Amino acid sequence: MTKLFSPFNLKELTLKNRIVMSSMCMYSSVEETGHMTPFHFSHYISRAVGQVGLVMTEATAVQPEGRISAQDLGIWDDEFIQGFTELNEQIHAYGAKSGIQLAHAGRKAELESPGYAPSTLAFNESFKEPIAMSTADILNTIQAFADAARRAKKANFDIVEIHAAHGYLINQFLSPLSNKRSDQYGGTRENRYRLLSEIISAVKKVWDGPLFVRISTDEYHELGNKIEDILYFTKQMKDQAVDLIDCSSGGVVPASISTYPGYQVKRCEIIKQSTMIATGAVGLITTGIQAEEILQNNRADLVFIGRALLINPYWAKMAADELRQSLEAPTQYKRGWH
Ligand SMILES: Cc1cc2nc3c(=O)[nH]c(=O)nc-3n(C[C@H](O)[C@H](O)[C@H](O)COP(=O)(O)O)c2cc1C
Repeated sequence: MTKLFSPFNLKELTLKNRIVMSSMCMYSSVEETGHMTPFHFSHYISRAVGQVGLVMTEATAVQPEGRISAQDLGIWDDEFIQGFTELNEQIHAYGAKSGIQLAHAGRKAELESPGYAPSTLAFNESFKEPIAMSTADILNTIQAFADAARRAKKANFDIVEIHAAHGYLINQFLSPLSNKRSDQYGGTRENRYRLLSEIISAVKKVWDGPLFVRISTDEYHELGNKIEDILYFTKQMKDQAVDLIDCSSGGVVPASISTYPGYQVKRCEIIKQSTMIATGAVGLITTGIQAEEILQNNRADLVFIGRALLINPYWAKMAADELRQSLEAPTQYKRGWH
């Protein structure tokens, strides 16, 4: 049996294989309300039919002001629970597990009103200058993440992922490039980690299932967080009993990133080996052989597939064929699944 198609246990949860559909904003919710449209059902359910082990839904805003755009999905109110419950029922019907990525865009919100951020630094000239968050704003946002996790539990998600990557709000606090605060949420890396730490603790009070955190492992800037800082953060997360670090990169400041197959895997491997925590690798992983190499060499525990799954909902079948691995077909498709 290949590693890619072997099960993976997270607490009481078992993923049937190591293939995760990576979170990808589809900017297709009902304009301004943040509710799902029929598109979301087709989009996510078809990847469950396509036999991925875990379907991670897109970045979902915990507060309306934390949306990237007016077309983002939301989970800032109990009225969202019903739609997600229905979606999860269908994802589960095809044997996949489901996860939600809880997000706040911070200064990268592209809404009419300015975004909220640790400091009043805009991402670049095309973004509005953000409002520097007061302690009360910070506490409200921490509570919003916890409320969102409570709703995710009610809606039967299997996994919660906190989005602390790509230069969105939590990443803005983590990075010295965007966090210029002089209170307990800024300055030293201990202080810059405080918001994420408090969000993890608050989420854990209401969510007892597996918890992932997506981080940017490289800020592509000489004054940004270094690998030692990243390892400090991942060690703290391990101590807080986070179950898996989803290892992405970039987005804190404008930067040109040279990408190549598996360009983010090296740091994922370093985190896994140094912190002794489960990791997910993501970024230009497009073939079964490539995914298998990452897992076989213990560089990650899960592979997150983004764009390759957008163009091919049957990526898992393609990878299984490539690795000469049999893969169970969804009942309805047995006759076409050789
Ligand atoms: C259309 C699109 C939307 C994305 N939205 C998100 C998102 O909501 N949350 C997130 O963490 N990453 C997001 N990403 C990044 C992907 O999850 C993934 O990390 C990235 O595309 C690299 O993986 P890939 O080479 O397999 O596509 C998005 C990427 C794409 C292409």
